[in-house]
Amino acid sequence: MKRLLIKNAKGLVGTHPADLLRVGGRSMKDLPIIADGWLAAEDGRITGVGIMDSFPGITDWSDLTVIDAEDRYVLPGWCDPHTHTVFAASREEEFVDKIKGHTYQEIAARGGGILNSAAKLRAMSEDELFTKAKVRLEGMMHQGTAAVEIKSGYGLSVESELKMLRVAKRLKEALPLQVRTTLLAAHALPPEFKDDRSAYLDLIVNELIPRVTAEGLADFVDVFCETNYFTVAEMERILVAGAVYGLRGKVHVNQFTSIGGIQAAVKHHALSVDHLEVMEEADIEALANMHSTQLHGRGTGSEAPIPTLLPSCSFFLRIPYGPARQLMDRDLAVALATDHNPGSTPSGNMNFVLSLACIQLRMLPEEAINAMTLNSAAAMAVEADLGSISIGKRASLIITKKIPSLAYLPYTFGNDNIDTVLIDGAPVRSGEALA
Ligand code: NIG
Ligand code: FE
Repeated sequence: MKRLLIKNAKGLVGTHPADLLRVGGRSMKDLPIIADGWLAAEDGRITGVGIMDSFPGITDWSDLTVIDAEDRYVLPGWCDPHTHTVFAASREEEFVDKIKGHTYQEIAARGGGILNSAAKLRAMSEDELFTKAKVRLEGMMHQGTAAVEIKSGYGLSVESELKMLRVAKRLKEALPLQVRTTLLAAHALPPEFKDDRSAYLDLIVNELIPRVTAEGLADFVDVFCETNYFTVAEMERILVAGAVYGLRGKVHVNQFTSIGGIQAAVKHHALSVDHLEVMEEADIEALANMHSTQLHGRGTGSEAPIPTLLPSCSFFLRIPYGPARQLMDRDLAVALATDHNPGSTPSGNMNFVLSLACIQLRMLPEEAINAMTLNSAAAMAVEADLGSISIGKRASLIITKKIPSLAYLPYTFGNDNIDTVLIDGAPVRSGEALA
Protein backbone atom coordinates (compact mmCIF):
# COMPACT_ATOMS: atom_id res chain seq x y z
CA MET A 1 0.00 0.00 0.00
CA LYS A 2 1.42 3.37 -1.07
CA ARG A 3 0.90 6.12 1.47
CA LEU A 4 1.39 9.86 1.31
CA LEU A 5 1.45 12.47 4.03
CA ILE A 6 1.59 16.19 3.31
CA LYS A 7 2.36 18.35 6.34
CA ASN A 8 2.62 22.05 7.22
CA ALA A 9 0.62 23.22 4.19
CA LYS A 10 0.03 26.97 4.30
CA GLY A 11 -3.46 26.08 3.06
CA LEU A 12 -5.33 23.03 1.82
CA VAL A 13 -7.57 24.68 -0.75
CA GLY A 14 -11.06 23.56 -1.80
CA THR A 15 -11.86 21.29 1.13
CA HIS A 16 -15.53 21.04 0.18
CA PRO A 17 -17.81 18.36 1.61
CA ALA A 18 -17.33 15.23 -0.52
CA ASP A 19 -21.00 15.19 -1.49
CA LEU A 20 -21.08 18.73 -2.88
CA LEU A 21 -21.37 18.19 -6.63
CA ARG A 22 -21.05 21.76 -7.91
CA VAL A 23 -20.79 25.25 -6.45
CA GLY A 24 -23.64 27.64 -7.34
CA GLY A 25 -22.53 31.03 -8.61
CA ARG A 26 -23.44 33.00 -5.51
CA SER A 27 -21.46 30.61 -3.31
CA MET A 28 -18.41 30.50 -5.56
CA LYS A 29 -16.64 33.21 -3.55
CA ASP A 30 -16.61 30.74 -0.66
CA LEU A 31 -13.61 28.50 -1.14
CA PRO A 32 -13.00 26.43 1.98
CA ILE A 33 -9.36 26.38 3.09
CA ILE A 34 -7.70 24.51 5.95
CA ALA A 35 -4.83 26.74 7.07
CA ASP A 36 -1.70 25.04 8.43
CA GLY A 37 -2.98 21.68 7.33
CA TRP A 38 -2.04 18.08 6.71
CA LEU A 39 -3.37 15.60 4.18
CA ALA A 40 -3.04 11.81 4.12
CA ALA A 41 -3.59 9.52 1.14
CA GLU A 42 -3.49 5.79 0.60
CA ASP A 43 -3.34 4.05 -2.76
CA GLY A 44 -4.00 7.32 -4.54
CA ARG A 45 -7.08 8.36 -2.55
CA ILE A 46 -7.37 11.03 0.13
CA THR A 47 -7.95 9.37 3.50
CA GLY A 48 -7.66 12.29 5.92
CA VAL A 49 -7.19 16.06 6.25
CA GLY A 50 -6.82 18.28 9.27
CA ILE A 51 -4.96 21.11 10.98
CA MET A 52 -1.36 20.57 12.13
CA ASP A 53 -2.48 20.62 15.78
CA SER A 54 -4.08 17.26 15.03
CA PHE A 55 -1.19 15.92 12.89
CA PRO A 56 -1.23 12.11 13.06
CA GLY A 57 1.80 10.57 14.79
CA ILE A 58 3.84 8.39 12.40
CA THR A 59 4.82 4.98 13.72
CA ASP A 60 4.88 3.01 10.47
CA TRP A 61 7.18 4.50 7.82
CA SER A 62 6.86 1.66 5.31
CA ASP A 63 5.89 2.85 1.82
CA LEU A 64 5.30 6.35 3.19
CA THR A 65 6.20 9.54 1.32
CA VAL A 66 6.23 12.67 3.48
CA ILE A 67 6.02 16.09 1.83
CA ASP A 68 6.72 19.25 3.79
CA ALA A 69 4.49 21.93 2.24
CA GLU A 70 5.55 24.81 4.47
CA ASP A 71 4.67 28.17 2.82
CA ARG A 72 3.00 26.28 -0.02
CA TYR A 73 -0.65 25.84 -0.97
CA VAL A 74 -2.10 22.47 -1.88
CA LEU A 75 -4.91 22.61 -4.42
CA PRO A 76 -7.05 20.07 -6.25
CA GLY A 77 -5.53 19.38 -9.69
CA TRP A 78 -7.17 21.42 -12.44
CA CYS A 79 -10.00 19.81 -14.42
CA ASP A 80 -10.09 20.97 -18.05
CA PRO A 81 -13.52 20.01 -19.39
CA HIS A 82 -13.21 21.30 -22.98
CA THR A 83 -10.26 20.58 -25.29
CA HIS A 84 -9.52 19.52 -28.85
CA THR A 85 -6.04 18.36 -27.93
CA VAL A 86 -5.74 15.55 -30.50
CA PHE A 87 -4.72 17.31 -33.72
CA ALA A 88 -2.12 16.87 -36.43
CA ALA A 89 -0.47 20.26 -36.77
CA SER A 90 -0.30 23.80 -35.49
CA ARG A 91 -1.77 26.69 -37.55
CA GLU A 92 0.46 29.65 -36.88
CA GLU A 93 0.11 30.83 -40.50
CA GLU A 94 -3.55 31.66 -39.67
CA PHE A 95 -2.38 33.40 -36.52
CA VAL A 96 -0.26 35.69 -38.66
CA ASP A 97 -3.22 36.26 -41.02
CA LYS A 98 -5.29 37.30 -38.02
CA ILE A 99 -2.63 39.82 -37.05
CA LYS A 100 -2.94 41.21 -40.57
CA GLY A 101 -6.66 41.76 -39.93
CA HIS A 102 -8.46 38.64 -41.19
CA THR A 103 -11.13 37.18 -38.92
CA TYR A 104 -11.53 33.55 -37.80
CA GLN A 105 -14.64 33.31 -39.99
CA GLU A 106 -12.86 34.72 -43.08
CA ILE A 107 -10.01 32.27 -42.67
CA ALA A 108 -12.47 29.39 -42.30
CA ALA A 109 -14.43 30.50 -45.39
CA ARG A 110 -11.36 30.12 -47.62
CA GLY A 111 -10.62 26.56 -46.46
CA GLY A 112 -8.50 27.33 -43.42
CA GLY A 113 -9.72 26.71 -39.91
CA ILE A 114 -11.28 23.39 -38.97
CA LEU A 115 -11.14 22.04 -42.56
CA ASN A 116 -7.41 22.77 -42.71
CA SER A 117 -6.92 20.72 -39.52
CA ALA A 118 -9.20 17.97 -40.84
CA ALA A 119 -7.19 17.52 -44.04
CA LYS A 120 -3.98 17.16 -42.02
CA LEU A 121 -5.51 14.82 -39.47
CA ARG A 122 -6.96 12.51 -42.11
CA ALA A 123 -3.49 12.13 -43.61
CA MET A 124 -1.75 11.29 -40.33
CA SER A 125 -1.42 7.82 -38.80
CA GLU A 126 -3.03 6.92 -35.49
CA ASP A 127 0.41 6.31 -33.97
CA GLU A 128 1.76 9.70 -34.97
CA LEU A 129 -1.35 11.48 -33.67
CA PHE A 130 -1.00 9.59 -30.40
CA THR A 131 2.66 10.53 -29.99
CA LYS A 132 1.99 14.21 -30.64
CA ALA A 133 -1.03 14.43 -28.35
CA LYS A 134 0.79 12.56 -25.58
CA VAL A 135 3.49 15.22 -25.48
CA ARG A 136 0.81 17.93 -25.20
CA LEU A 137 -0.99 16.15 -22.38
CA GLU A 138 2.26 15.58 -20.50
CA GLY A 139 2.81 19.33 -20.71
CA MET A 140 -0.71 19.96 -19.37
CA MET A 141 -0.16 17.58 -16.43
CA HIS A 142 3.08 19.42 -15.68
CA GLN A 143 0.98 22.61 -15.47
CA GLY A 144 -1.38 20.99 -12.96
CA THR A 145 -4.12 19.43 -15.07
CA ALA A 146 -5.44 16.22 -13.51
CA ALA A 147 -8.41 15.60 -15.81
CA VAL A 148 -9.08 16.52 -19.41
CA GLU A 149 -11.95 16.18 -21.83
CA ILE A 150 -10.86 15.51 -25.41
CA LYS A 151 -13.10 16.00 -28.45
CA SER A 152 -13.00 14.49 -31.90
CA GLY A 153 -14.02 16.82 -34.72
CA TYR A 154 -11.00 17.01 -37.02
CA GLY A 155 -11.79 13.71 -38.72
CA LEU A 156 -15.22 14.52 -40.18
CA SER A 157 -15.57 11.02 -41.66
CA VAL A 158 -16.46 7.76 -39.97
CA GLU A 159 -12.94 6.35 -40.14
CA SER A 160 -11.13 9.54 -39.15
CA GLU A 161 -13.48 10.39 -36.29
CA LEU A 162 -13.01 6.84 -34.97
CA LYS A 163 -9.25 7.24 -35.40
CA MET A 164 -9.26 10.41 -33.26
CA LEU A 165 -11.32 8.80 -30.53
CA ARG A 166 -9.12 5.70 -30.54
CA VAL A 167 -6.14 7.97 -30.03
CA ALA A 168 -7.93 9.59 -27.07
CA LYS A 169 -8.68 6.14 -25.64
CA ARG A 170 -5.01 5.16 -25.91
CA LEU A 171 -4.04 8.41 -24.17
CA LYS A 172 -6.42 7.54 -21.36
CA GLU A 173 -4.73 4.18 -20.94
CA ALA A 174 -1.18 5.50 -21.30
CA LEU A 175 -1.33 8.50 -18.97
CA PRO A 176 -2.30 8.81 -15.31
CA LEU A 177 -4.65 11.77 -15.70
CA GLN A 178 -8.40 11.23 -16.11
CA VAL A 179 -9.55 11.48 -19.72
CA ARG A 180 -13.13 11.82 -20.91
CA THR A 181 -13.99 11.82 -24.60
CA THR A 182 -16.57 13.54 -26.76
CA LEU A 183 -17.79 12.85 -30.28
CA LEU A 184 -17.76 16.18 -32.14
CA ALA A 185 -18.38 14.93 -35.67
CA ALA A 186 -20.62 17.99 -36.20
CA HIS A 187 -17.69 20.41 -35.96
CA ALA A 188 -17.73 21.52 -39.62
CA LEU A 189 -19.37 20.23 -42.78
CA PRO A 190 -16.80 18.02 -44.54
CA PRO A 191 -16.07 19.01 -48.19
CA GLU A 192 -17.53 15.74 -49.53
CA PHE A 193 -20.92 16.72 -48.12
CA LYS A 194 -20.94 20.39 -48.98
CA ASP A 195 -23.97 20.00 -51.23
CA ASP A 196 -25.81 17.55 -49.00
CA ARG A 197 -25.73 18.51 -45.35
CA SER A 198 -28.52 16.18 -44.38
CA ALA A 199 -26.54 13.18 -45.64
CA TYR A 200 -23.73 14.10 -43.22
CA LEU A 201 -26.24 14.39 -40.39
CA ASP A 202 -27.59 10.96 -41.36
CA LEU A 203 -24.07 9.55 -41.24
CA ILE A 204 -23.49 10.92 -37.74
CA VAL A 205 -26.82 9.72 -36.41
CA ASN A 206 -27.10 6.37 -38.16
CA GLU A 207 -23.51 5.26 -38.32
CA LEU A 208 -21.07 7.20 -36.19
CA ILE A 209 -22.98 7.41 -32.92
CA PRO A 210 -23.79 3.66 -32.92
CA ARG A 211 -20.21 2.67 -33.83
CA VAL A 212 -18.59 5.02 -31.36
CA THR A 213 -20.75 3.75 -28.53
CA ALA A 214 -20.33 0.10 -29.55
CA GLU A 215 -16.56 0.58 -29.24
CA GLY A 216 -16.96 2.53 -25.98
CA LEU A 217 -15.10 5.47 -27.47
CA ALA A 218 -17.12 8.45 -26.21
CA ASP A 219 -18.69 9.72 -23.02
CA PHE A 220 -20.42 12.77 -24.53
CA VAL A 221 -21.59 14.26 -27.81
CA ASP A 222 -20.91 17.80 -29.03
CA VAL A 223 -22.07 20.04 -31.91
CA PHE A 224 -20.65 23.35 -33.11
CA CYS A 225 -24.02 25.12 -33.13
CA GLU A 226 -23.22 28.37 -34.92
CA THR A 227 -24.10 30.48 -37.95
CA ASN A 228 -22.42 28.86 -41.00
CA TYR A 229 -21.73 25.63 -39.08
CA PHE A 230 -24.66 23.64 -37.62
CA THR A 231 -28.20 24.87 -36.99
CA VAL A 232 -30.16 24.52 -33.78
CA ALA A 233 -32.41 21.92 -35.44
CA GLU A 234 -29.36 19.91 -36.52
CA MET A 235 -27.92 20.07 -33.01
CA GLU A 236 -31.24 18.89 -31.59
CA ARG A 237 -31.26 15.92 -33.95
CA ILE A 238 -27.78 14.92 -32.75
CA LEU A 239 -28.61 15.44 -29.06
CA VAL A 240 -31.71 13.26 -29.40
CA ALA A 241 -29.73 10.53 -31.18
CA GLY A 242 -26.91 10.76 -28.61
CA ALA A 243 -29.36 10.41 -25.73
CA VAL A 244 -30.59 7.10 -27.14
CA TYR A 245 -27.03 5.80 -26.77
CA GLY A 246 -26.40 7.38 -23.38
CA LEU A 247 -24.26 10.27 -24.64
CA ARG A 248 -25.06 13.55 -22.93
CA GLY A 249 -24.45 16.81 -24.73
CA LYS A 250 -21.54 19.16 -24.11
CA VAL A 251 -22.07 21.73 -26.81
CA HIS A 252 -20.39 24.68 -28.52
CA VAL A 253 -22.94 27.51 -28.46
CA ASN A 254 -22.97 31.32 -28.65
CA GLN A 255 -19.32 31.70 -29.70
CA PHE A 256 -20.01 34.25 -32.43
CA THR A 257 -23.81 34.54 -32.61
CA SER A 258 -26.83 33.87 -30.42
CA ILE A 259 -29.17 31.59 -32.40
CA GLY A 260 -31.08 29.65 -29.74
CA GLY A 261 -28.53 26.93 -29.02
CA ILE A 262 -28.71 27.44 -25.26
CA GLN A 263 -32.47 27.01 -25.12
CA ALA A 264 -32.17 23.78 -27.12
CA ALA A 265 -29.33 22.51 -24.93
CA VAL A 266 -31.45 23.16 -21.83
CA LYS A 267 -34.38 21.32 -23.41
CA HIS A 268 -32.21 18.28 -24.15
CA HIS A 269 -30.52 18.21 -20.72
CA ALA A 270 -27.01 18.91 -21.95
CA LEU A 271 -24.36 18.58 -19.27
CA SER A 272 -22.62 21.79 -20.32
CA VAL A 273 -22.95 24.75 -22.66
CA ASP A 274 -19.54 26.01 -23.70
CA HIS A 275 -18.10 29.28 -25.10
CA LEU A 276 -20.97 31.80 -24.43
CA GLU A 277 -18.99 34.78 -25.67
CA VAL A 278 -22.11 36.29 -27.27
CA MET A 279 -25.01 36.13 -24.85
CA GLU A 280 -28.39 37.83 -24.90
CA GLU A 281 -30.52 38.29 -21.80
CA ALA A 282 -32.85 35.48 -22.98
CA ASP A 283 -29.90 33.08 -23.11
CA ILE A 284 -28.92 33.77 -19.51
CA GLU A 285 -32.59 33.60 -18.55
CA ALA A 286 -32.97 30.14 -20.11
CA LEU A 287 -30.14 28.79 -17.97
CA ALA A 288 -31.22 30.62 -14.82
CA ASN A 289 -34.83 29.44 -15.11
CA MET A 290 -33.73 25.86 -15.45
CA HIS A 291 -31.47 26.30 -12.44
CA SER A 292 -34.09 27.86 -10.22
CA THR A 293 -36.52 25.01 -10.83
CA GLN A 294 -33.96 22.49 -9.54
CA LEU A 295 -32.47 21.92 -6.14
CA HIS A 296 -28.89 22.74 -6.98
CA GLY A 297 -26.06 20.28 -6.42
CA ARG A 298 -28.13 17.17 -5.81
CA GLY A 299 -27.22 15.29 -8.95
CA THR A 300 -30.73 14.77 -10.23
CA GLY A 301 -29.46 14.78 -13.80
CA SER A 302 -31.77 17.63 -14.66
CA GLU A 303 -29.79 20.58 -13.32
CA ALA A 304 -29.09 23.46 -15.67
CA PRO A 305 -26.26 22.78 -18.12
CA ILE A 306 -22.98 24.07 -16.68
CA PRO A 307 -21.93 27.30 -18.40
CA THR A 308 -18.30 26.68 -19.33
CA LEU A 309 -16.28 29.75 -20.23
CA LEU A 310 -13.11 29.67 -22.32
CA PRO A 311 -11.34 32.98 -21.73
CA SER A 312 -8.10 31.99 -23.46
CA CYS A 313 -10.12 31.55 -26.68
CA SER A 314 -11.49 35.09 -26.29
CA PHE A 315 -7.96 36.32 -25.62
CA PHE A 316 -6.51 34.64 -28.70
CA LEU A 317 -9.31 35.53 -31.15
CA ARG A 318 -9.94 38.99 -29.67
CA ILE A 319 -13.64 38.20 -29.27
CA PRO A 320 -15.83 39.16 -26.29
CA TYR A 321 -15.38 37.40 -22.96
CA GLY A 322 -18.29 35.37 -21.52
CA PRO A 323 -20.50 37.11 -18.94
CA ALA A 324 -19.17 35.29 -15.88
CA ARG A 325 -20.50 37.75 -13.30
CA GLN A 326 -24.01 37.80 -14.75
CA LEU A 327 -24.10 34.00 -14.80
CA MET A 328 -22.83 33.82 -11.20
CA ASP A 329 -25.36 36.46 -10.11
CA ARG A 330 -28.05 34.03 -11.29
CA ASP A 331 -26.41 31.37 -9.09
CA LEU A 332 -25.22 29.31 -12.05
CA ALA A 333 -22.22 27.05 -11.40
CA VAL A 334 -19.73 28.56 -13.86
CA ALA A 335 -16.85 26.33 -15.03
CA LEU A 336 -13.66 27.23 -16.89
CA ALA A 337 -11.67 25.33 -19.53
CA THR A 338 -8.83 25.97 -21.97
CA ASP A 339 -10.46 24.95 -25.31
CA HIS A 340 -6.94 23.83 -26.31
CA ASN A 341 -6.91 23.54 -30.13
CA PRO A 342 -4.70 24.72 -33.01
CA GLY A 343 -7.13 27.34 -34.33
CA SER A 344 -8.59 29.36 -31.50
CA THR A 345 -6.57 28.45 -28.38
CA PRO A 346 -3.10 27.01 -28.90
CA SER A 347 -2.53 26.77 -25.14
CA GLY A 348 -3.61 24.09 -22.69
CA ASN A 349 -2.44 26.04 -19.66
CA MET A 350 -5.15 26.30 -16.99
CA ASN A 351 -2.97 28.68 -14.94
CA PHE A 352 -3.29 31.28 -17.69
CA VAL A 353 -7.06 30.64 -17.73
CA LEU A 354 -7.04 31.43 -13.99
CA SER A 355 -5.37 34.80 -14.60
CA LEU A 356 -7.71 35.67 -17.48
CA ALA A 357 -10.74 34.66 -15.41
CA CYS A 358 -9.71 37.14 -12.73
CA ILE A 359 -8.50 39.91 -15.03
CA GLN A 360 -11.03 39.73 -17.86
CA LEU A 361 -14.05 37.90 -16.41
CA ARG A 362 -13.66 39.75 -13.09
CA MET A 363 -13.96 36.58 -11.09
CA LEU A 364 -12.44 36.64 -7.63
CA PRO A 365 -9.51 34.22 -7.23
CA GLU A 366 -11.73 32.01 -5.02
CA GLU A 367 -14.51 32.02 -7.63
CA ALA A 368 -12.12 31.17 -10.44
CA ILE A 369 -10.53 28.34 -8.45
CA ASN A 370 -13.96 26.85 -7.70
CA ALA A 371 -14.72 27.17 -11.43
CA MET A 372 -11.56 25.28 -12.50
CA THR A 373 -11.80 22.55 -9.90
CA LEU A 374 -15.20 21.38 -8.62
CA ASN A 375 -17.38 23.03 -11.27
CA SER A 376 -15.10 21.99 -14.12
CA ALA A 377 -15.01 18.46 -12.69
CA ALA A 378 -18.82 18.50 -12.78
CA ALA A 379 -18.74 19.77 -16.38
CA MET A 380 -17.00 16.52 -17.37
CA ALA A 381 -18.78 14.28 -14.85
CA VAL A 382 -15.73 13.47 -12.71
CA GLU A 383 -16.89 15.38 -9.61
CA ALA A 384 -17.27 12.20 -7.56
CA ASP A 385 -13.52 11.67 -7.93
CA LEU A 386 -11.90 15.06 -8.44
CA GLY A 387 -12.36 18.80 -8.02
CA SER A 388 -11.98 19.15 -4.26
CA ILE A 389 -9.77 18.05 -1.40
CA SER A 390 -12.26 15.66 0.16
CA ILE A 391 -11.89 12.28 1.79
CA GLY A 392 -12.40 9.50 -0.75
CA LYS A 393 -11.45 11.57 -3.78
CA ARG A 394 -8.32 11.03 -5.86
CA ALA A 395 -5.15 12.53 -4.39
CA SER A 396 -4.53 14.52 -7.59
CA LEU A 397 -3.01 17.68 -6.24
CA ILE A 398 -1.02 20.78 -7.09
CA ILE A 399 1.62 21.90 -4.59
CA THR A 400 2.64 25.50 -5.26
CA LYS A 401 6.00 27.13 -4.89
CA LYS A 402 6.43 29.20 -1.72
CA ILE A 403 3.97 32.05 -2.40
CA PRO A 404 2.56 34.81 -0.19
CA SER A 405 -1.16 34.29 -0.88
CA LEU A 406 -3.65 32.44 -3.05
CA ALA A 407 -4.42 35.60 -5.05
CA TYR A 408 -0.72 35.60 -6.02
CA LEU A 409 -1.50 32.71 -8.42
CA PRO A 410 -3.70 34.68 -10.86
CA TYR A 411 -1.93 37.98 -10.07
CA THR A 412 1.45 36.83 -11.40
CA PHE A 413 0.03 35.93 -14.83
CA GLY A 414 2.42 33.93 -16.97
CA ASN A 415 4.48 32.93 -13.95
CA ASP A 416 5.00 29.28 -13.19
CA ASN A 417 3.95 29.03 -9.55
CA ILE A 418 3.69 25.24 -9.44
CA ASP A 419 6.30 23.17 -7.60
CA THR A 420 4.93 19.64 -7.62
CA VAL A 421 2.00 17.86 -9.26
CA LEU A 422 0.63 14.59 -7.92
CA ILE A 423 -1.86 12.43 -9.78
CA ASP A 424 -3.49 9.68 -7.74
CA GLY A 425 -0.83 10.32 -5.08
CA ALA A 426 2.13 9.84 -7.45
CA PRO A 427 4.30 12.70 -8.70
CA VAL A 428 4.06 13.62 -12.37
CA ARG A 429 6.17 16.69 -11.64
CA SER A 430 8.64 16.65 -8.77
CA GLY A 431 9.76 19.91 -7.22
CA GLU A 432 11.52 21.08 -4.09
CA ALA A 433 8.64 20.10 -1.81
CA LEU A 434 9.43 16.46 -2.55
CA ALA A 435 13.13 16.75 -1.79
O1 NIG B 1 -13.84 25.69 -29.76
N1 NIG B 1 -15.35 26.82 -32.39
C1 NIG B 1 -15.19 25.68 -32.73
N2 NIG B 1 -14.16 24.88 -32.48
C2 NIG B 1 -12.94 25.28 -31.85
C3 NIG B 1 -11.95 25.82 -32.81
C4 NIG B 1 -11.52 24.80 -33.76
C5 NIG B 1 -10.48 25.23 -34.73
O2 NIG B 1 -10.39 26.41 -35.12
O3 NIG B 1 -9.73 24.34 -35.15
C6 NIG B 1 -13.23 26.18 -30.68
O4 NIG B 1 -12.87 27.38 -30.67
FE1 FE C 1 -13.97 24.16 -28.51
